Amino acid sequence: GIYAQGMFTDQRPQITTNLAELEAEAAESLSPEALGYIVASAGSGSTARANRDAFDAWRIAPRMMRSSAERDHSCTILGTESAAPLLIAPVGIQTLAHPDGELATVRAAAALGVPYVHSTQASHSFEEIAEGGGDAPRWYQLYWPTDESVLLSFLGRAKNSGFTTLVLTLDTTLLGWRPADLDRGYLPFLSNLGIENYLTDPAFQAGLEQSVEANPVAAAMHWAQMFPNPGLNWSQLAFLRENWDGPIVLKGICTVGDARLALDHGVDGIVVSNHGGRQIDGARASLDALPEIVDAVGEQMTVLFDSGVRTGADMAKALALGADAVLLGRPFLYGLALGGQAGVEHVLRCILAEFDLVTSLSGHTGAAELGRDSVVHA
Ligand code: FNR
Repeated sequence: GIYAQGMFTDQRPQITTNLAELEAEAAESLSPEALGYIVASAGSGSTARANRDAFDAWRIAPRMMRSSAERDHSCTILGTESAAPLLIAPVGIQTLAHPDGELATVRAAAALGVPYVHSTQASHSFEEIAEGGGDAPRWYQLYWPTDESVLLSFLGRAKNSGFTTLVLTLDTTLLGWRPADLDRGYLPFLSNLGIENYLTDPAFQAGLEQSVEANPVAAAMHWAQMFPNPGLNWSQLAFLRENWDGPIVLKGICTVGDARLALDHGVDGIVVSNHGGRQIDGARASLDALPEIVDAVGEQMTVLFDSGVRTGADMAKALALGADAVLLGRPFLYGLALGGQAGVEHVLRCILAEFDLVTSLSGHTGAAELGRDSVVHA
């Protein structure tokens, strides 16, 4: 389609189709602070680089003449139907990238038929997403607040707003060491950006002496007291199970040991992830952890993957190594920065189209056929 349009009209894509170039293109439309926060990795950036190197170290081993004309990538992920094994990763404060923020993203997810995961740190509330987000499948990502009444209120609001699956993120009980933000003394949450779920929460407001409008600084400080939660431990999962009816997924698993603990504690799925290299500088590449985790628990639970996925070929590699689906982080944000909802749709379409081409060209009729023998370690 794109080739034909370029031939007969002037309608070339407004945003690059070279997914590796997106970051540079988006950089031009973002403030230095916003760019720093979004692109930033922890410390020296070694884990973010390792995520990419790990993808480059696996190569696709294509098979020929295998009747791959009819292809279907649709799948069901923990009961949620999706057009492809791809979800939009939970990302806070999306209004930093574009004024429409998460509303643009969830509408793009609806247009493409893939699930949207709503961050606890979102700049739109659960209710706004439910009302304005179209029919995108909705999951909710929880950062466990230390105030139990706020936790219970979040779970209730998420449920009432149609969020079906709960994703508990484990790797960010404290914010990582991020020099790009530290050097600027910049933390968007402290200017009330990205804490809309809190600001609109009755239990959160009950803990404030003055209203959010009367004293926004005090509200931000109140948030800062309940966000860090390094005391979190495995025994607390039982409480979550008692208070959440749907599937529970743990995000931030990097080792076989933790994957087994997740299984023992009866959760439904995990996301193998190092938070895009934003938390522990020097942590292993997420993709390097994936095969051994799949070997250990993949038969018994859903294993999702993120950190470093940039292209459709990357998606194929992660699925070949055993992921049931991947979450896409920074690339969709770059699309959001460049073109709002249309920009996110563009990035999703590019990734899914390339994924479809790669699967067909390598002799597969769908994601389910990708397996270990579809890739080799170079
Ligand atoms: C994130 N991520 C994230 N994760 C989460 O569980 N809750 C959150 O609020 C956020 N916020 C957030 C903000 C920004 C700006 C980024 C870039 C990332 C992590 C995200 O869900 C995912 O794990 C990584 O983005 C995956 O890595 P890639 O795809 O960015 O390399």
